[in-house]
Amino acid sequence: MVMRWDGWPHVLDTRQFKNTKLLISIFRLASRMNREKRLSCAKGKLLASLFYEPSTRTRLSFEAAMLRLGGGVLSTENAQEFSSTVKGETLEDTIRVVGSYVDVIVLRHPEEGSAIRAAGTSKVPIINAGDGSGQHPTQALLDAYTLYREFGTLQDLKVMMVGDLFYSRTVHSLTYLLAQQKGIKLFFVSPPLLAMPSDIIAYLKEKGVPYEQMTELSGLRNIDAIYVTRIQKERFRSIQDYEEVKGSYVISKEVLAQLPPHARILHPLPRAGELDPGVDNLPQASYFKQAENGLFIRMALLKAIFDKDV
Ligand code: CP
Repeated sequence: MVMRWDGWPHVLDTRQFKNTKLLISIFRLASRMNREKRLSCAKGKLLASLFYEPSTRTRLSFEAAMLRLGGGVLSTENAQEFSSTVKGETLEDTIRVVGSYVDVIVLRHPEEGSAIRAAGTSKVPIINAGDGSGQHPTQALLDAYTLYREFGTLQDLKVMMVGDLFYSRTVHSLTYLLAQQKGIKLFFVSPPLLAMPSDIIAYLKEKGVPYEQMTELSGLRNIDAIYVTRIQKERFRSIQDYEEVKGSYVISKEVLAQLPPHARILHPLPRAGELDPGVDNLPQASYFKQAENGLFIRMALLKAIFDKDV
């Protein structure tokens, strides 16, 4: 089938993936990538990973995905320091030039809206690998794929998001994506300082998506999945604000005991104390599988971009 999402071929925002049939097709293709592991659809193509912020999973899984599809990779893992940005080059100029060397650009940048700006000037597909506190759409696709694999559906799930909901681009992207699903209910747990941004709450209201906002971890026995996030020290303007909220929630064996046995724990990683390693080997812990799923989702997206008809 021909796979196309809104805004094709760029991947900038999860609101591009409105169609559940399309999502399921991407998930099926990701499962195929998991089985096949090596293909040649990107033979002769190049991917540039342009990262202005640190990354382990996103950059390396995109690069692994491209290599497994038979393509090549050019990588700038610290573009903030080692690209011509240091000499004052604009993002737009950098994208225009890099786009003349490669066939797709994976961009992580500290400014919200940077990926959309890049797409406006690029002649090759731009994949948003995180734009400040904005979005991280491929993370949300792999999060949703993990839920789909665990539950066999994205519908009628009760999903609780915990931690830094204000700055977390993964939470923003996943909320927009899950908001499209029938029967979904969202629970947002955060300190007041890190509550979900008002524009996203307004979006949920407009779409009629049921949600609850809380400051305590409670009502866990009705939850299907908890999506835990790190309190991101690097996003705070004031260290006092960070000190006030750090360590607000810790998912431990005791917390886990309150969840129903079928519930799953997800985390985009890296973690910084909010997820006790003591729960890593329990069947509810899905976060390492989730990180692995990133490879298959990113292979699927690249295959869709290069093959066009998949
Ligand atoms: N989840 C995620 O984006 O991880 P990295 O920052 O390591 O890419």
